[in-house]
Amino acid sequence: MVKKRACVFISGKGTNLNTLIKRSRDNSFPIKVELIISNKKNAKGLMYAKKFAIPFLIINTSKKNYDLKALNEITKRNISVICLAGYMKILPKNFIRSFKKPIINIHPSLLPKFKGINTYKRIIENKEKMTGCTVHLVNENLDSGKIILKKSFKIEPYDNEKTLKIKTQKVEYKSYPEALIKLLGKY
Ligand code: GAR
Repeated sequence: MVKKRACVFISGKGTNLNTLIKRSRDNSFPIKVELIISNKKNAKGLMYAKKFAIPFLIINTSKKNYDLKALNEITKRNISVICLAGYMKILPKNFIRSFKKPIINIHPSLLPKFKGINTYKRIIENKEKMTGCTVHLVNENLDSGKIILKKSFKIEPYDNEKTLKIKTQKVEYKSYPEALIKLLGKY
């Protein structure tokens, strides 16, 4: 199988990025991470770029046309899929329109519920019985693209924001690779 060349966007710890890099060592996994882009120069997840010798790029989202520069780099490297993994900025509409290939995101709720930020806080406040994560295609509206896969679990009475985050991320590490196989695995 020919692997798709992937670029992963991060802003923070990069634990999903780490999972994707590790899974992509598997010959049958549909992607190989060839570029990492972070909007934070101190993002902890950049340590995985260094650890696995993957090229990385820091983007300054307050600069004009930063997205064009990122797109240029992405095109130069023949990237054919973008995975957002804890990237906490909204991609400019122009960027989404210009890329023309799949952009995938993982979100820590059962979409369409709880789009946006402060997800765990809102889930607890809303006294939800179930939660989980969603892997979806990115379109021009926030957290609204076609859903590829959702995985859910039951919220226990003793759960709080911290335990929900731990449980959700555990589910995410299974869901992101599974969703990529579901979307890209068949040629
Ligand atoms: C993940 O849990 C992901 O669902 C969330 O950020 C976390 C990043 O963790 N993404 C969003 O909230 C996007 N709206 P990581 O950096 O350790 O992978």
